[in-house]
Amino acid sequence: MKILITGGSGFIGSNFVRFWLSRHPNDEIYNLDKLTYAANPKSLSDIESNPHYHFIKGDICDSKIVNETISSGIELIVHFAAETHVDRSLDDPLSFLKTNIFGTHTILEAAKKFNLRFHHISTDEVFGALPLDSPEKFCETTPYDPRSPYSASKAASDHFVMAYYHSFGLPVTITNCSNNYGPYQSPEKFIPRMITNLIDGQKIPIYGDGLYVRDWLYVTDHCRAIEAVITKGKIGQSYNVGGLVKDVSNLDLAQIILKIMSKDEANVEHVPDRPGHDRRYSMDWTKIQKDLNWQPSLTFEEGIMATVKWYQNNEIWWRPMKIEAEEFYRRLAASRK
Ligand SMILES: NC(=O)c1ccc[n+]([C@@H]2O[C@H](COP(=O)([O-])OP(=O)(O)OC[C@H]3O[C@@H](n4cnc5c(N)ncnc54)[C@H](O)[C@@H]3O)[C@@H](O)[C@H]2O)c1
Repeated sequence: MKILITGGSGFIGSNFVRFWLSRHPNDEIYNLDKLTYAANPKSLSDIESNPHYHFIKGDICDSKIVNETISSGIELIVHFAAETHVDRSLDDPLSFLKTNIFGTHTILEAAKKFNLRFHHISTDEVFGALPLDSPEKFCETTPYDPRSPYSASKAASDHFVMAYYHSFGLPVTITNCSNNYGPYQSPEKFIPRMITNLIDGQKIPIYGDGLYVRDWLYVTDHCRAIEAVITKGKIGQSYNVGGLVKDVSNLDLAQIILKIMSKDEANVEHVPDRPGHDRRYSMDWTKIQKDLNWQPSLTFEEGIMATVKWYQNNEIWWRPMKIEAEEFYRRLAASRK
């Protein structure tokens, strides 16, 4: 089968390309990626020479390149490409609107033209925020209530995907997943930034009081969930995906990483909060467990240990991105003063 993967040079996309080719070695993967600041072509350097892997540099908003790529016999689209950093979305909402909404629409139009199976990668952030210390979780029927330009653009893209199913019969599925962590994630994001700061002898910056609770999933377990939905999911359905973690706050997470890296609490620094910071996300993934027999394979402790080890052993991958990421945070801090 020929598969178009959009955003395959980013964090989850590159993990997915490697995962899929290891499980389906006869399939052909076409990775369409604009190579924004978030991409690192080195993430797939071990795959580049595989004759079943093809890279196309291009923008998902460009219908010409999208149609050309798809007309090479693509049967399935797995759509990861997006602007993904909430802090950047507060600075520049328009680029989120363009890629996440207009770009998704461009891919949907092409999928409709060729009547292709379409799987959309989305987030738990579309559901809004939950109060701290509540037992509530997001399920597939929770009403959408996005709070940031990032989550608003992802929510809009989810609605477009479902509209193409209901209006045009396009065979679609969606996964709404919680926060991912693992190898090949930009050091601009929370967990890799903590680990790489500690490697560099810098402090861990924690927004506000640090009592922000997230549900965390190791990236390969997300790839397994996407595979389950692509191969066994029901058309026209969305599936929530989450981890084996019980309400870990950002402060708890910092403590866990400090302990693994043998550092003490003096390495934590509280910094001014992000505007509109969502307090708590929590995912109910009973549906995918019951219907598709998926559940995470790694505990949070196992995943975090593996992630710390990966960053300790792969400085050559993250160092150039780290310089750019810290420059971004310096600009952000200056703009919030
Ligand atoms: N990271 C998470 O915790 C998480 C959780 C749930 C869902 N998601 C979703 O998963 C998907 C992938 O997230 P990620 O963390 O791997 O993102 P990422 O930022 O690491 O990678 C995004 C990729 O998309 C590419 N891209 C951006 N704009 C593009 C455009 N206009 N045309 C073509 N390519 C473009 C970038 O170059 C990059 O390779 C996103 O849709 C995101 O919303 C992420």
